[in-house]
Amino acid sequence: MNITVIGMGYIGIVNAVVLQLYGHNVIAYDINKDKIELLKQGIALTDEPKLQDLLGEVGKSIRFTSNAYDALTPNSIYVIAVDTPTSKSGSPDLSHFYNVLDEIIKYAKDDSYIIIRSTVPPLTNSKVREYLNSRSEYKFSVLTIPEFLTQSTAIMDELNPSRVVIGAVDKSARELAKKIYADYAKRNIPIVYTTPENAELIKYASNNFLSMKISFINSFAQLCEKVGGNIDEVAYGVGLDPRIGKEFLKAGIGYGGLCFPSDNKTLSWFFKENDTPDDLVEATININDSQIQYFVDKVLSKVKSLNNLHIAVLGLAFKGGAEEVRNSPSIPIIKAFTDKGAFVHAYDPLAIDSFHQAMPRMARVRLFDYLFDAMKDCDFAVILNDSEEFQNLTPQDFKNHLKKPIVFDGRNLYPLDAMKGIEYYSIGRPQLK
Ligand code: UDX
Repeated sequence: MNITVIGMGYIGIVNAVVLQLYGHNVIAYDINKDKIELLKQGIALTDEPKLQDLLGEVGKSIRFTSNAYDALTPNSIYVIAVDTPTSKSGSPDLSHFYNVLDEIIKYAKDDSYIIIRSTVPPLTNSKVREYLNSRSEYKFSVLTIPEFLTQSTAIMDELNPSRVVIGAVDKSARELAKKIYADYAKRNIPIVYTTPENAELIKYASNNFLSMKISFINSFAQLCEKVGGNIDEVAYGVGLDPRIGKEFLKAGIGYGGLCFPSDNKTLSWFFKENDTPDDLVEATININDSQIQYFVDKVLSKVKSLNNLHIAVLGLAFKGGAEEVRNSPSIPIIKAFTDKGAFVHAYDPLAIDSFHQAMPRMARVRLFDYLFDAMKDCDFAVILNDSEEFQNLTPQDFKNHLKKPIVFDGRNLYPLDAMKGIEYYSIGRPQLK
């Protein structure tokens, strides 16, 4: 099938390469000419694992363009994957999204299908239908097919999703989706056909539920500390119940990234807009926010003054293996340290560019290219994400490179037994001295 994917951000490029891999003819469109030029040269623009390889494999068959006429006139199936940032109040900014609809109205030359893959609040599909069909001579059928991609496994997630949710109002739209996702059905991947409204709600409910599990376990972690428990053992025992499941029960400094924080804000806004109590969503957000102060307080309770101390900060991105520092707990934690007069030696090779963009003038912070250089002569270390490189560290590494072997682990990376011999503080577990 001939499909135009609009918006070459993270979601868009993953969709473009996977649709092409499944034998569709893809036009990939973005208004950013520089981005398109790089993609034409086969440069993936992100370190997402497997993306570069897949782009090498199928990129030559994809037609990349920044010209709206070339992208939108030849096809009549449009996948919209532009970003939809969230404002402080939680209401989403759909301006890019509506700009795309205007371009489609301008350039489409036939009745068309639109597949919404951008994250948009519930009820957007019906508004889009109304918007398009009141402004164009052609008929538009609008599907909502939410994505559930996780950074650093996005290609595998798109190739082998736990389910494909298809929100469509008419039969022809469902038939179209059936053809596009034929390969998934053959592989017995569950396909959920539902209304657009339900598809929109499924997306938000999934992300909220996962983040709620994280906030749940973090609040229990705080309780464990008070009563001498060990949150890892509690989570293990709880997670063995298949009705609960063991995933997303890892205690730490909370969730970050581009999805959970903004999706929860949007969901809370949407509950309120619809006059529905949003206590669970609010609690999820508040507990997550409070984990940051809780971690900073933990450090301050052990190290009385941070003034002129040097702190090795291991991990800037919101999780190991990712590049993104936007909405990462590392940013407010580093800010709290530097506000109290500390110098930060930060290490996270994947996140350097993203950190510079998010924090162009962060005084008292120095980025290091090598892990042990960052740790050298520091008074203590804090671990803020679960990068594989950190998981392999031993007590001896901390003894060798820090002034004193004191570690605050915000991700519970090591079994307590493995950290004997150093001063080790983690989340919801007994401290080692
Ligand atoms: C998430 C969802 O997993 C994905 O389905 C959705 O489409 C987008 O949001 P992502 O943000 O890439 O994906 O990362 P994920 O691995 O889910 O982690 C999110 C955050 O939660 C990270 O900061 C991670 O460190 C934290 N986390 C995750 C925990 O603190 N504990 C856990 O048990 C799991």
